[in-house]
Amino acid sequence: MIKYWSFLEEYKKNKNRFLSNINKTLIKGNIFFGKQLNIFEKRFIKKYKSKYGIAVGSGTDAILISLLALNLKKDDEVIVPANTAIPTVSAIVNAGGKPRLIDIEDDYLTSVSKIKKATNKNTKVIIPVHLYGQSCQMEEIMKFANKNKIKVIEDCAQAQGAKYKNKFVGTFGLSGCFSFYPTKILGTYGDGGFILTNDFKFFEKIKRIRFYGIETNNHKKKFFNEYYAYENGINSRLDEIQSSILNLKFKNVDNLIYKRRKIASIYIKNLKNLKIILPEQNTKCFHVYNTFTLYHKKRKYIMNYLKNNNIQSRIIYPYPIQKMKGYEKIKKVKDLSNTEKFSKGIFSIPLYPELKLKDVLKICKNLKNCIKSI
Ligand SMILES: Cc1ncc(COP(=O)(O)O)c(C=O)c1O
Repeated sequence: MIKYWSFLEEYKKNKNRFLSNINKTLIKGNIFFGKQLNIFEKRFIKKYKSKYGIAVGSGTDAILISLLALNLKKDDEVIVPANTAIPTVSAIVNAGGKPRLIDIEDDYLTSVSKIKKATNKNTKVIIPVHLYGQSCQMEEIMKFANKNKIKVIEDCAQAQGAKYKNKFVGTFGLSGCFSFYPTKILGTYGDGGFILTNDFKFFEKIKRIRFYGIETNNHKKKFFNEYYAYENGINSRLDEIQSSILNLKFKNVDNLIYKRRKIASIYIKNLKNLKIILPEQNTKCFHVYNTFTLYHKKRKYIMNYLKNNNIQSRIIYPYPIQKMKGYEKIKKVKDLSNTEKFSKGIFSIPLYPELKLKDVLKICKNLKNCIKSI
């Protein structure tokens, strides 16, 4: 069976290094807020050319904490695409805001023209989602947001290392929110996330919110590092075990992206003449292919064909947000036609750095045979 995704290959290859690093960390008596976290935070901020940043417990928390720092009021609206992961939307609700769903373009992404149509006097935040590994048109979105005094929180969970006009995602808006969920570009062996920002005041606030509202940032503060809450916070720590794994993997992150792009290019080369819609890399974008997502009206048939030939595939995402019971009453624009159309035909095939060339070619061969038979 060619798995849609697996970490085992990577783990077996690096097991000794991972375990020895974890042991070195634990033997020093650190579990939280130790050296590994410190090193990782510094590296991540430097690599993605941001001024400040904090690691948090998950990508969901990165979005939640960013939004909590904005003190949303009951009627404040947050614009978000309907074709996204549930947590982009749950974070808005949990931060006390009102999500307003918008449609996507043919590239599956949020655009300024879709954002404009949904903006009203209550719009406080826009969350562009850099879905599948490709950046939204961030310059244009920032221009509109700045003009209308709307904050931008970027959901970069699937797009670490992606760029728009040579600038990294996560560095355009007030904050960039990343996920280290195992299937992501830099996956750990548990949960983890990161918030980048260039705004010092915002940075201080998200750092407090991450840790029960306690001040751990500035030595001059009266209650520095005391068990004293300056404000209401949550608990969202990235522990030393996950940080030590991430530190080892992070050194190699460009290579992980290189391998993903290489596999994507083999898929594109082999599948380009078939009657199926392939993911496109927009001009001005550097795509990191967190997923390789195709579109075909006969998705079910194709996925079954692949399954019968021992190839797993997945739908990311099968239900637009407004179609799920938990979000039935959500605010939305009238026209979500692209989201609805795509949700009926998108499916993703295996793409991860350890995927073997022979498996990539087997997938191509099977897809070719299948599509020609339709
Ligand atoms: C687009 C998007 N946003 C947010 C998240 C949430 O990240 P996490 O699973 O680390 O909480 C994910 C991951 O599933 C995602 O794909």
